[in-house]
Amino acid sequence: MKIGIIGTGAMSTSLAGAWTRAGHDVLAAGRTSLRTAASHGDLILFAVPAAAAPGIAAELADDLAGRTLLDCTNPIAPGPAGPLLTVPPGSSTAAALASAAPGAAVVKAFNLCHASIWTLDPPVFEGLPLGVPYCASAQEAAARTAALITSMQCTPVPCGGLDRAPYLEATAALAIGVWFAAGSPRAMFPPIAQVPAADPQ
Ligand SMILES: NC(=O)c1ccc[n+]([C@@H]2O[C@H](COP(=O)([O-])OP(=O)(O)OC[C@H]3O[C@@H](n4cnc5c(N)ncnc54)[C@H](OP(=O)(O)O)[C@@H]3O)[C@@H](O)[C@H]2O)c1
Repeated sequence: MKIGIIGTGAMSTSLAGAWTRAGHDVLAAGRTSLRTAASHGDLILFAVPAAAAPGIAAELADDLAGRTLLDCTNPIAPGPAGPLLTVPPGSSTAAALASAAPGAAVVKAFNLCHASIWTLDPPVFEGLPLGVPYCASAQEAAARTAALITSMQCTPVPCGGLDRAPYLEATAALAIGVWFAAGSPRAMFPPIAQVPAADPQ
């Protein structure tokens, strides 16, 4: 796949490495050449601060039309007991991106793990490939994202449409808070095979 990346910081660098290792054609660009990245291929990752992302998407809306916009941003700010969301309840940066670039198919993904995780080749823990949750409303964008995640030797975890992106952003805020308090977000969920009543209904 051809993947453009908006931003050249920690997430850009680590995901570009993972995607290049997986055989993709990746182009990351900083402030002076965002348009070049926004028109590089079918998938465009936004790896910039959440507060800046919608404005950038609006500027690049024409270039982004017809492409899948991967949104890894977390709209969070420090709070007394861990990060707090900076977007109103029920809204999300992903939804703001979709409004700013209406021709793009926005997918919320890659926002839960620290950037360094994507330098692991592959990210496998206790024998299990990392699950990567994503929210997508457009079928083709969802399929592209799932294929990208699979190519990284991770497991795609579909979490519903973009209307569920607020939950993924809130999950990151919660997990980061647990992590910074020296807890383990991973320890909060039992392995599904060991749940006595495994039927989620
Ligand atoms: N780091 C993590 O572990 C992690 C994990 C999950 C999700 N995220 C999310 O991923 C996003 C990127 O995080 P990061 O850690 O990669 O940040 P970062 O290392 O600070 O990099 C941010 C990038 O965005 C660019 N940028 C900032 N403001 C901009 C603007 N107004 N216009 C254009 N470009 C701008 C920066 O350019 P300059 O260098 O020129 O300032 C830089 O290239 C954030 O939304 C964050 O919440 C991060």
